[in-house]
Amino acid sequence: MLTKLDSLSVSANILMRCPHFLKWMCLGLFGAIWQWAMSTEWRKAGAWVLSCRIDSWEPCLMLLQDGEMEKLEELVGKYPCAFPCWVGPFQVFFYIYDPDYAKAFLSRTDPKSKYLYKFLIPCLGKGLVSLEGPKWFQHRHLLTPGFNFNILKSYVEVMAHSVNTMLDKWEKICGPQDTIVEVFEHITLMTLDILMKCVLSQETNCQTSSTHDLYVKATFEASKIIFHRLYNFLHHLDIIFKFSPQGHRLQEMVKILHQYTEKIIQDRKKLLKNEKKYGNTQKRKYQDFLDIILSAQAENDNNFSDTDLQSEVNTFMLAGQDTMAGGISWLLYHLALNPEHQERCREEIRGILGDGSSITWDQLGEMSYTTMCIKESLRLAPPVPSISRELSKPITFPDGRSLPAGITVVLSIWGLHHNPAIWENPKVFDPSRFSQENSDQRHPHSFLPFSAGPRNCIGQQFAMIELKVAIALILLRFKVSPDPTRPLVFLPQIVLKPKNGVYLHLKKLP
Ligand code: HEM
Repeated sequence: MLTKLDSLSVSANILMRCPHFLKWMCLGLFGAIWQWAMSTEWRKAGAWVLSCRIDSWEPCLMLLQDGEMEKLEELVGKYPCAFPCWVGPFQVFFYIYDPDYAKAFLSRTDPKSKYLYKFLIPCLGKGLVSLEGPKWFQHRHLLTPGFNFNILKSYVEVMAHSVNTMLDKWEKICGPQDTIVEVFEHITLMTLDILMKCVLSQETNCQTSSTHDLYVKATFEASKIIFHRLYNFLHHLDIIFKFSPQGHRLQEMVKILHQYTEKIIQDRKKLLKNEKKYGNTQKRKYQDFLDIILSAQAENDNNFSDTDLQSEVNTFMLAGQDTMAGGISWLLYHLALNPEHQERCREEIRGILGDGSSITWDQLGEMSYTTMCIKESLRLAPPVPSISRELSKPITFPDGRSLPAGITVVLSIWGLHHNPAIWENPKVFDPSRFSQENSDQRHPHSFLPFSAGPRNCIGQQFAMIELKVAIALILLRFKVSPDPTRPLVFLPQIVLKPKNGVYLHLKKLP
């Protein structure tokens, strides 16, 4: 009988004599996996074809390629409601972009697609974005008070301060001349500055200090690695990614991010404890999200652990950063391309704010034309271009077509917002689409930048305030126009990104 050692040496012998043995084994294994994956995916895909009898069968790798948006728009124009799409050899997604389909899809509570969201978990932890079921419901219920109007009101001044810091920098860069500036990086730092203050009351000076804080650098690098992973099929396998250089680097970045927030949380806890002990409660200028989350924890000690707390802080920091940076940058770009609308916004803002030395909550409510432009920009370039879910049970859409359980459905917000069946001349920037009269005539699920239903964006009011404060203060101090040599190209990732930055001519206004 062969001992373990003998059999090992026999195997090694075979390998030595037959150098291709390993290769063949790998190929065999790969073939088996391929066959299995294809059969399950084809079965799901086949069920769709049978149920809806469409012959639209375009196996494209759109999600992972540049220029996806044009291709997507072409398909949206060609196939009403939906189409199936291959995103790599093993995975089929069903894209939907019709308001009735969106309504049926968003009224359910299917879990988020593992394929996309699992890459975020190492960074965010299990917070609102990635939680499911009763735990998600509990967190959502506890955190919703953090976005009530009284809390948000106090952030207007904080936001204005960060925007003005960025504009002071722009003034220094530009001088009296018209200058081309890559604005996306500036805006990203500004949105991070706002979050640092609103979520954690931290003054990092990240906009002005040339050597960015370690946390800021780690945020940027971690988000780059996560998106790189999305594009690298082999790195979808945890075991390969974990041992890759990028996997190692991400672990380092995540450690920095978590240590940073952990320290702030512990310091704040100590402070609150001391305040309570010595009865010298200091009145802070505003309540930040950390205060809200800590008081939620105090009320629900057993159901809201320190890990939950940290995950939620990380979630807010990251969910509110890239989305906001994109939202403000695309708006500025659209107004640069459409000077007549830019001027109309500026006139409205001057009429309300004068020189902009102060800005209040009530004044934001008066900016009706600017709000229409913000919405039109969110329509043309939704910062979150799609959301996806894995169907936990079959779904039947209002037209009778259905999909079986287990399928990944992608609601393409971009596709919905560019659907010619809903929007006339969908590529044209036309803020009048959002006049009260025109909005009332549209299907309520035609415009979904913040999604809808139980899992809509918890930060949408915060986002609209920041967009208004930012655009109002920018337009009072600068005129923006496009750089025709560098048009904006979008990279469709979990959040829309600019492929080569956002270059604009900035001219300081007298
Ligand atoms: C223009 C800016 C923003 C856009 C376009 C946006 C868009 C969205 C969308 C489409 C979703 C749904 C995601 C899904 O179902 O998979 C979402 C969820 C979420 N957003 Fe936003 N968002 C923005 C800003 C913010 C801000 C500023 C915060 C926080 C400070 C935030 C926090 C969240 C959280 C925590 C969720 C998960 C909610 C849940 O599942 O209960 N977002 N956002």
